[in-house]
Amino acid sequence: MQPLVKKIKERVNIVDIIGSFIKVDRSGINHKACCPFHHEKTPSFFVSEQRQTFNCFGCGVKGDVVEFVKLYEHLDFKDALRYVFDKSGLPESDWQQNQERSSQDIKADLDKKEAQDIFEKVVNIYHEYILHKDNGNILLYLTNRGLKIETINIWKIGYSPNTWQFIETKINSTLLEKVGIVKSKDGKRYDFFRDRIIFPIFDIQGHAIAISARIVDQGEPKYLNSPDTILFNKSETLYGLDKAKEGIRKFKYAILVEGQMDLLLCHQEGFNNTVATSGTALTDKHLQMLRRYTNNLMLLYDADKAGLNATVKAWSLALKYGFEVKTAVMPEGEDPASLLLKDKKKFMQIMKNATHVIDFVISQSDNKSRISTKTSLEKIIPLIASLESSIDKEFFSKKTAEFFELSLDNINTELQKFSQSEYRYLDTIDRTIDKNESHDKTKYAVIDKALAEFKSLVYIYNQQLNTQVKHSESQTFDSDTTQKIDSYINEYKASDLFKLQQEYIPDLNSVFDTIDVIDEHIIFNFENIYTQKKVDLDFYKQEVDISYKNFVQKIYTMIYQEIQNKLKKAEIIKDTNLIHKYTQDINILWQNLKK
Ligand code: UTP
Ligand code: MN
Repeated sequence: MQPLVKKIKERVNIVDIIGSFIKVDRSGINHKACCPFHHEKTPSFFVSEQRQTFNCFGCGVKGDVVEFVKLYEHLDFKDALRYVFDKSGLPESDWQQNQERSSQDIKADLDKKEAQDIFEKVVNIYHEYILHKDNGNILLYLTNRGLKIETINIWKIGYSPNTWQFIETKINSTLLEKVGIVKSKDGKRYDFFRDRIIFPIFDIQGHAIAISARIVDQGEPKYLNSPDTILFNKSETLYGLDKAKEGIRKFKYAILVEGQMDLLLCHQEGFNNTVATSGTALTDKHLQMLRRYTNNLMLLYDADKAGLNATVKAWSLALKYGFEVKTAVMPEGEDPASLLLKDKKKFMQIMKNATHVIDFVISQSDNKSRISTKTSLEKIIPLIASLESSIDKEFFSKKTAEFFELSLDNINTELQKFSQSEYRYLDTIDRTIDKNESHDKTKYAVIDKALAEFKSLVYIYNQQLNTQVKHSESQTFDSDTTQKIDSYINEYKASDLFKLQQEYIPDLNSVFDTIDVIDEHIIFNFENIYTQKKVDLDFYKQEVDISYKNFVQKIYTMIYQEIQNKLKKAEIIKDTNLIHKYTQDINILWQNLKK
């Protein structure tokens, strides 16, 4: 943290400053309020005096006092800082001194500018190359899929040849690696994108900052996406927003699609109010960005099961930001791109018939068997529960009861159960892990997450142990917490399980190297559930142990899968030595699990 920021934050209290803008009430060890950043009637916005932070469970905004002022007053960072500075009573000279920017900051800015220029060059090279006479087949593929040359030009679509050093020989800069275009292995540098159709991703000002690259025709992976870099953060980027801004304002709603091709065809065919998430699920940040332009959203996802799940998720998330959401149901086997090409009239008809998401879920429930009723209701009940209007609630309860041939009482009981459900905190873990994000989460996200839960619980336990409340100065754990965490991790590292992990998934070790950043969300969540309940220290200790076990269990599962895979292969090639070894290792795993 900048020294001045730290100094200011030591002198002001976030509760007072937020309290000067909105009404806050004490709640347990924290304060709560109705969130000023989204529409709500019951408070889900919490402020921690202890950590000097805020967090909203409804819409996900969080941060420190400067961040609050920035968002609330629509200021940039510097002006927000100045506002808080004025409340701190520090002398003006402190502010003046800080105005001389550090040479590091200046260098970071220059790097970014240079990286941007280079990225633009790269994109232009790929784009020019698609028009090269050798690549007629690539162009033909795209035009067969309905793209006009004009669209290819507007969106700077390109092609990367099937060679290892195409960009490498054309641009000489170490920044190529930093922006995800070049990779290196064993001292050798090579192009990341080879033999792929290049779709540049633009930021809101229209600068190319990343690439989503599709395989030509068929193969795996279908899309290869840029990693997050100094230019690109995928959870904050909406593909097409730079070109859709105007359209969204004009039509007063935004269309949200999943695929690159869907987006391009929508724009080409005049629906230039379309945006897409690129290679990731819809995030809070995406919605916060869209909210600046409209509060009407049309979801246009594929008609398959993944599309249905994504629709339900996006809908619930969008609801928190006060969006009016409709969803248009594609005919089976079609996505927006294919339908637009085949039958534009029908496409428009479908948009016109767009429905409420609950209708959508009902319409997608294929039969009335017990199992499918149950799975549909698991989706529908939370959706009904989250409806604000009691009229809507009754309407959809009745409709659901009718469709599934259940009594209205039954639905009401389920609704009640849902709103009263108080599960142990750890039961929520699996709900929050996104199982549908297979292609963008890292392999170890599940373990990362479990580790974060565990660390946060150790932190909370420690806070309970130390009756004297410490103001935390930074966003990282104190040394006492770190020590406790380490002792658990060392216990793990002394186990047989660790030996197996070293052998079967050695790169998992990197998970342990992460810096201990406080996960505010987990901590607030826990505080909200438990600190008002007068539970004793043993309880906290127990939660720590459960979360540790959960973490180890996740590792166990991963190793088990890995050995199983190897075992299958060994069985195919009938290698008895290997079969024996893997079977034995699985046995060791079992022994360990029992402990
Ligand atoms: P789709 O499989 O629906 O792709 O994935 P698409 O864009 O419709 O592609 P076509 O029609 O087969 O050409 C939807 C989006 O999910 C991301 C991409 O952003 C894609 O556009 N995705 C998909 C990936 O990031 N990686 C993948 O391997 C697949
Ligand atoms: Mn598609």
